[in-house]
Amino acid sequence: MNPLKHVAIIMDGNGRWGLKHYNSRKRGHRAGLKTVEKIIKATLKLKIPYLTLFAFSTENWKRPKSEINYLFNLLQDFLQKKILKLNKKDIKLKIIGEKKFPKKLSNLLSKSEKITNNNLALQINLALNYGSKNEILYAVKSLIKKKKHITEKNISSELYTKNIPDPDILIRTGNTNRLSNFLLWQLSYSEIFFFNKYWPDFNETDFIKIIKKYKKVKRNFGEI
Ligand code: IPE
Ligand code: IPE
Ligand code: MG
Repeated sequence: MNPLKHVAIIMDGNGRWGLKHYNSRKRGHRAGLKTVEKIIKATLKLKIPYLTLFAFSTENWKRPKSEINYLFNLLQDFLQKKILKLNKKDIKLKIIGEKKFPKKLSNLLSKSEKITNNNLALQINLALNYGSKNEILYAVKSLIKKKKHITEKNISSELYTKNIPDPDILIRTGNTNRLSNFLLWQLSYSEIFFFNKYWPDFNETDFIKIIKKYKKVKRNFGEI
């Protein structure tokens, strides 16, 4: 049975779900947040120590302003209402990505990270304004600046995910089979599960099914 330390998720399909059921992409994002809460609960229960959630990519800035604002407001509301609860559950929140948001949200994100910094039960990496190519480029530039060798180990140590084991599992919901510039370096040996359901329809049972499948996979890492 494979050990499981880290699950990463591309939470895709909110917009299509919202359009299908309510003719509104925004409704889909709202419903998607409910799934986030369910999956956080399940991850805690399963005692998986790291959960990385892709919430907003560097490419998502190309979307209409009203959708972007809606997403940021949802996140702001969520943190305002729930951060103390997350803290009580011993959850640590870490933002991965460049924190370039409206001031109120940026401050709230920093505050949430600070409040939860010493928590140990579960670390949630929330990927916000995250792009993997940017991250790798920044890491290499930083090594050059520090006059350090460009090695795999050193590059890893300059990524947002330094000190975090690489994801064992990547899940992408939404019936789309691509990585969309997510964790390209860290996913080199992850087991990838593309899932047909839209993110708002994804649930604990689906999550557990994937984990069960993962546990039985023969992970070779190049060996036979
Ligand atoms: C993923 O859902 C969530 C974000 C990118 C914020 P989408 O909004 O991409 O939903 P679809 O893929 O358009 O259905
Ligand atoms: C990836 O989904 C980003 C997030 C889930 C936050 P997208 O919906 O933005 O990906 P593409 O554009 O379809 O590849
Ligand atoms: Mg999408």
